[in-house]
Amino acid sequence: MTSRDARRDRTPVADALARPAHAPARPPHGTTARVGMVGAGQLARMTHRAAIDLGIDLVVLALRDDEPAPLAGAPYHLGAPEDLAAMTALAEAVDVVTLDHELVPGAHLSALAASGHPVRPSPAALRFAQDKLHARRELDRLGFPVPAFAEVHEPADVERFAGDHGWPVVLKARAGGYDGRGVELVAGADQAGAVLRRGGAWLVEALVPIATEVAVVTARRPSGGHATYPVVETVQAGGICIELVMPARIHAPVAAAAIDLADRIADAIEAVGITAVELFVTPDDELVVNELALRPHNSGHASIEGSTTSQFANHLRAVLDWPLGDTTMRAPCAVTVNLLGGPEPTDLADRLPLALADPQVHVHLYGKEPRPGRKIGHVTVLGDDVEVAMTAARTAADRLVAPTPPMPEGTRT
Ligand SMILES: Nc1ncnc2c1ncn2[C@@H]1O[C@H](COP(=O)(O)OP(=O)(O)O)[C@@H](O)[C@H]1O
Ligand SMILES: [Mg+2]
Repeated sequence: MTSRDARRDRTPVADALARPAHAPARPPHGTTARVGMVGAGQLARMTHRAAIDLGIDLVVLALRDDEPAPLAGAPYHLGAPEDLAAMTALAEAVDVVTLDHELVPGAHLSALAASGHPVRPSPAALRFAQDKLHARRELDRLGFPVPAFAEVHEPADVERFAGDHGWPVVLKARAGGYDGRGVELVAGADQAGAVLRRGGAWLVEALVPIATEVAVVTARRPSGGHATYPVVETVQAGGICIELVMPARIHAPVAAAAIDLADRIADAIEAVGITAVELFVTPDDELVVNELALRPHNSGHASIEGSTTSQFANHLRAVLDWPLGDTTMRAPCAVTVNLLGGPEPTDLADRLPLALADPQVHVHLYGKEPRPGRKIGHVTVLGDDVEVAMTAARTAADRLVAPTPPMPEGTRT
C-alpha cells in the first residue's frame, strides 16, 4: 500500500489519533477511571483537582494548550467540539465523556453515544442547557413553574406578547448566551427590533419580580441516586454572577421546595452528573425556574471548602455511577466572591500575598488573562456569620482585582 492509499484508508478516528495528543493511550498503573471532559476552562481545571484525589485521569478537549485545565497539568487533546474526529478521539481514550460547557454540537454527542461511548449527561438532557426555548417548552409541559414565554421572530411578536404581559419584557437568545450576554431587557418595539436585528433565534419572557436569585446544585447518578447541596443565593450585577451565599437567606420551606424542585427536574430530564437549577424567588416566595446547567456550576464553587464533598468530586462520581459524596456543609455558612478582570491590567503575583494576609481566605485562580468582566478566579470564606464572611471575601477580592487594592491589616501607615 502506498502512503497515499494509507492516508485515504485512514478513518477520521485514526486520523485524529495520529495527531499529537498529550494524553496516554493506556491508563497508567493506579488509574481508577478515565473521564473525558469537552472543554478546558476553569470548571475542567477544578474537576481535574478533584480527579487527582480519586485516581481518575481527566482528559480534556482543549482548543489551546494555555487554557485553564491544561495549564494546571490536566492531560489534554487539542481540538474543537465542532470537530467530530477530535471528539471521537477523546471518547476512544476514556471510559465516559462529560462536558465543562454546553457549546457542543448535540449531533456529535449523539454520534458518540450511538457508537457505544457513554456520554453523560445524555445529549437529550444536555439540550435543556443548550436551547432556552426547548427548556422552557419542555419544563412547562412537564408542569414545572417557568415564566410566561414565546418564540419571537419580529418586533410584532414581541409587541403582541407585551400586550398580554406588559412591558418591559426580557429577550433571550435561544442558544450561546452566558454571563448575561444574550439577555436583554426591552421596553418597546423599537428596542426589540434592534435586538432581533442582531440575528439568531430569540424568545421573549415576562419580567419576573425577583426578591432573591438562587441556584440548587444536585448530582445525579445514571442509576438514579441524588446528592443535593443546600440552596445557594446568587447575586448578579449586569447579568454576571458576582457573589454567592450558601445557604441562601430564604425561608426554610422555600429552600426545601427549591431542593425538591431541582431533584424532580433532574429526575424528569434524566440528568447525570451535576445539574444546577437557577431559580427566581418572587416577593411572594413563589419559585420560578430560570435556566439549567448540566455541569459543575459557578453557584457550587463554595462546595470545594464549604461542603464535605465538592461539586467537582460529585460530578465525577456521578458520571462514573459511583456512590455520591455527602453534601453536608462544614461550617454554618460559606460565601464566594468571583474575581472579575478590571479595566486595568492586574498583577496577580504582586497582589496575591495581600489577599492571603487573611488566613481564613481560600483563593482560586484560574490561570486566565485578566480582561474586563472576565471571571479569572474566586475567593471563598467559611464562617458563622454571612456578613463577617462576606466582608472578608470582598476585601480579599478587592486586594486581588480592585483598581487600587486596599492594604492588609497592620500595614497601613
Ligand atoms: N424572565 C426574567 N425576569 C427577570 N429577570 C430575568 C429573567 N430572565 C433572566 N433574568 C435576569 O438575567 C440574568 C441572566 O439570565 P439567564 O437566562 O440566566 O442568562 P445567562 O445564560 O447569561 O446566565 C438572570 O440571572 C436574571 O438576573
Ligand atoms: Mg444564568
